[in-house]
Amino acid sequence: MTATDTSRFSEIYRRSLQQPEEFWAEAAAEIDWIKPWTRVLDDSRAPFYRWFAGAQLNTCYNALDRHVDGGRADQLALIYDSPLTGSSTTYTYRELRDAVATFAGALADAGVQKGDRVIIYMPMVPEAAISMLACARIGAIHSVVFGGFAANELATRIEDATPKVVVSASCGIEPGRVIAYKPLLDAAIDLVEAKPDRCIILQRPQLEAELQPGRDISWADAIAAAEPADCVPVEATDPLYILYTSGTTGEPKGIVRDNGGHAVALKWSMKNIYDVNPGEVYWAASDVGWVVGHSYIVYAPLLHGCTTILFEGKPVGTPDPGAFWRVIEEHGVSTMFTAPTAFRAIRQQDPEGEHIARYDLSKFRILFLAGERCDPETLHWAERKLSRPVIDHWWQTETGWAIAANCMGIEPMPVVAGSPTLPAPGWDLRAVDAEGNEVEPGQTGALVVKLPMPPGATPTLWNADERFRSTYLMSFPGYYQTADAGFIDDKGYVFVMARTDDIINVAGHRLSTGAMEEVLAEHPDVAECAVIGPADELKGQLPVGFLVLKAGVDRPHEEIVAEVVTMVRDRIGAVAAFKTATVVERLPKTRSGKILRGTMRSIADGKEYKAPGTIDDPAILSEIDVALHEIGYPQTAAAEGPSA
Ligand code: COA
Ligand code: AMP
Repeated sequence: MTATDTSRFSEIYRRSLQQPEEFWAEAAAEIDWIKPWTRVLDDSRAPFYRWFAGAQLNTCYNALDRHVDGGRADQLALIYDSPLTGSSTTYTYRELRDAVATFAGALADAGVQKGDRVIIYMPMVPEAAISMLACARIGAIHSVVFGGFAANELATRIEDATPKVVVSASCGIEPGRVIAYKPLLDAAIDLVEAKPDRCIILQRPQLEAELQPGRDISWADAIAAAEPADCVPVEATDPLYILYTSGTTGEPKGIVRDNGGHAVALKWSMKNIYDVNPGEVYWAASDVGWVVGHSYIVYAPLLHGCTTILFEGKPVGTPDPGAFWRVIEEHGVSTMFTAPTAFRAIRQQDPEGEHIARYDLSKFRILFLAGERCDPETLHWAERKLSRPVIDHWWQTETGWAIAANCMGIEPMPVVAGSPTLPAPGWDLRAVDAEGNEVEPGQTGALVVKLPMPPGATPTLWNADERFRSTYLMSFPGYYQTADAGFIDDKGYVFVMARTDDIINVAGHRLSTGAMEEVLAEHPDVAECAVIGPADELKGQLPVGFLVLKAGVDRPHEEIVAEVVTMVRDRIGAVAAFKTATVVERLPKTRSGKILRGTMRSIADGKEYKAPGTIDDPAILSEIDVALHEIGYPQTAAAEGPSA
């Protein structure tokens, strides 16, 4: 099972690293190219690598038109299933191609040309996928912003991407409430200098938006006037999209995805990792605002000729914890992909799996989980209740597809709970110490990927080559730093244990504690603050804020806490799930002034902790323990310390 033995998987894996150009050129035969490449891998600007240099293609053509021309015109391409609105719609490949071509025409009418950016701020409606594909069709670069982000986050992305057009909707729908999107969009545009020329707004019946004359146009009016637009050739190395993701500060990173490498890698992954065949129904229960939604709701299933499902609902409460099984039965899903947190939510409400037994899941073959560490309990519960393989796999917005997976279409490997199995073909993964030396099997280190990364991985950050280099490539020259820590055991199995930066993972959503601290620090009464992400049974982690108040502030602490909670919701968004903060006298720091967030997290998690030898004053840790206890965390016993 390691990369050195003789299994079929090992052979393929070895070949992908030893002969990457031949390997990926073969995979690229599955894509229709307008012009062939001059070089499979262009390393002339290393450490910036480009795949399929010189080639031209159109991603939308590969996702839609070629299936229409190739016999899938009447097969369902997309099923929209929305328990939140009580509606559902289907699109055949022909219908989806036509809808996309028409909206592409509408974008062109709004002045969008090849290379222009379009921001898409939409809920989980078919028009979100249609907008993405329409951009791809005319060579525009889309940047989808998740609907749970507030105006300020949207503004940061508009400022950086400088879109010509923003596509949005009048509202999103969450259980029990309708969220007006238009005021958020208007507020975001007010905040930015480079205003978009045009906003195209999908009016939803649940709440219509007021349109600003001269700038806004409704989706219906935009398409009524539009002529269908054809696919335009783009370079394989041209950006298909930018997807902003949390960094360690409030300034998000614009992850760039190219057209050629992305199409090749995603098409390859469908059979080799997910073991899905064209014509089957593939369902990623995520959101188009995240990378999982980009890769596995929109692009990969369509590139592969599958039927994809766009689900506007939740694993529980829409209406019950049987929602996933209902969708699987009703639409004949063969493969499902979601985050472990969704299964924790289902298990909490239906521990015996009684809802599972109510549905016919005969077409359902494999469940894939990713987005956060999959705890063994959740994995085993899902295995027991579903009696099917449950496959953890590990990846990031930056990588676009799995770094480590059990490649079910090549050769299923034994599942080891807590491990996303082996590095996937193309990924030369190592665990290294602080000096960049490989550590022994089983020893924890920084997880890094030897360059070049395979096709589909981000080639750089939008307008920020130097930030790309300094964030990902400088710490370990010749390697991409995943910012995850973990180990690789003697069988080659990968274990991803923790982030090495200030990113936390809340319900499978990647969030920056640094960004939250920036918001807290703006409160007029706050002198100093820290945000950590203790473990949470349902969401994996939940943020908790610590506030040190300015001298002389004597307002009730509950008031200040309530204010900072509102500030984070208003500035970052509901998705931050920031609901808990506490006031403390001081924060634990090293003598050089570094806040000991890791130790604070151990205390919150009820783990035995040792005061680091560099701590300024160990007594502060008991104060933190007491403060956490007061807001519901168990009290922890400090180990003998301080440590050396
Ligand atoms: N637009 C606006 N608000 C949104 C939103 C969106 N698209 N998505 C989430 N929110 C809001 C929620 O309503 C919630 O608001 P509240 O504080 O008023 O309750 C808040 O953001 C936090 O959302 P979330 O952390 O998702 O919590 P939840 O209680 O609504 O749902 C789960 C919990 C586990 C059911 C849900 O997170 C889930 O299904 N996650 C797994 C799938 C997934 O999306 N993974 C992502 C990557 S694969
Ligand atoms: P995102 O970029 O939002 O997809 O988040 C990526 C991060 O989520 C990774 O760097 C990991 O920290 C975490 N992650 C995703 N999948 C897994 C997994 N299967 N196991 C452990 N952590 C994961």
